[in-house]
Amino acid sequence: MGFFDDKQDWLEIVFRNYPPENRRAAVMPLLRKVQQEEGYVSEEHIREIAELVGTTPTQVRGVMSFYSYYQAVPTGKYHLQVCATLSCKLAGAEELWDTLRAELGIGPGEVTPDGLFSIQKVECLGACHVGPVVQVNDEPYVECVTKERLKALLEGLRAGKRLEEIELPGSCGHHVREEEA
Ligand code: FES
Repeated sequence: MGFFDDKQDWLEIVFRNYPPENRRAAVMPLLRKVQQEEGYVSEEHIREIAELVGTTPTQVRGVMSFYSYYQAVPTGKYHLQVCATLSCKLAGAEELWDTLRAELGIGPGEVTPDGLFSIQKVECLGACHVGPVVQVNDEPYVECVTKERLKALLEGLRAGKRLEEIELPGSCGHHVREEEA
């Protein structure tokens, strides 16, 4: 059974915004739906999406590769993306990455045994002035992530808090909203 087989109503609503001649553009909402619900986009999902929007699996993979949000392997409930580009590096992203790996005991492509966390280094998230920056799933990014702030972030997520409910120590802003990013 395909991922979208029991989501025909949802597909119909999405496709209203993408007339047949523009249907290939619907690859984004479809990818997002799979990533949100499954935690990753498998080869099977890719083929299904390609068929639904009338494109090729290669093109779907091409879109995926452009966005760090989409994962081809299973991820944890919270997928932590650490910016590893220059400004964040200079602000301590490498040390932060090492701390995160040690704290969770996993490397890229792995998931913690409780299924909660996976980690990934990503390219610039567009918030270079407030690095190091960490993004959780596709939420607004967390800025100025010191070891203390990282610890508080992990504790909050482990406690099941939503990102905006987590109190982070330090004077840096909590996070910026997507429209400001
Ligand atoms: S270098 Fe990290 S957000 Fe730009």
